[in-house]
Amino acid sequence: MVNKVDWSEWYDMTRLQPPNKLLVEALLYVKNTGKVIDIGGGALRDTRHLLQRGFDVTVIDKNSLLEKEALKIKNKRLHPIVTSFEDFQFPINEYVLALAIQSLSYCDFTHFDRVIKNIKLSLKKGGIFCGQIYDEYGQEPKSLHKTYKTVEEVKEYLKDMEIILFQEEETEKGRTKHWRIYNFIARK
Ligand SMILES: C[S@@+](CC[C@H](N)C(=O)[O-])C[C@H]1O[C@@H](n2cnc3c(N)ncnc32)[C@H](O)[C@@H]1O
Repeated sequence: MVNKVDWSEWYDMTRLQPPNKLLVEALLYVKNTGKVIDIGGGALRDTRHLLQRGFDVTVIDKNSLLEKEALKIKNKRLHPIVTSFEDFQFPINEYVLALAIQSLSYCDFTHFDRVIKNIKLSLKKGGIFCGQIYDEYGQEPKSLHKTYKTVEEVKEYLKDMEIILFQEEETEKGRTKHWRIYNFIARK
């Protein structure tokens, strides 16, 4: 799939930010270092943290800027793959952590269920799935998201896992566009 969205401004804004709080929390539940996957890694702010913590990090992102971002890091434990979530062949029983920060809702809705299933299959037993899925309400200016899910639907995706954290967060208060973000950390 060809990426037509220009993420460069977002990447410049986030590259050197500290890791996402949800990831920091999730790492409390990852007992050993091992292989992790950063799904839609963007400018690699979370990947940088994972590498510093000793993990072997596969990053998938359909934006070809990923290669440029990865070159800035130069680490043998970093494996960038330019691919879409929809096309990536997730391995089975591979990762101790699957991370998806601000990314899953960009997955095409017709592939969404399969992608979530594959992410869960890619985890080792005891592995952690840490991510965010969006819902929306309010008026609809243009949005890049392709898939929104209700709280019930998100919980359904996680029903075969142990839920460690589930939080609802609202964004864009006071504007016409609202998103509700479901933050979750779950163990296989
Ligand atoms: C909002 S950014 C989040 C980046 C990073 N996770 C962070 O928190 O800084 C979303 C990322 O998902 C990637 N992306 C969007 N749709 C995708 C898809 N279908 N397959 C793979 N990557 C995708 C974009 O290229 C972008 O890097």
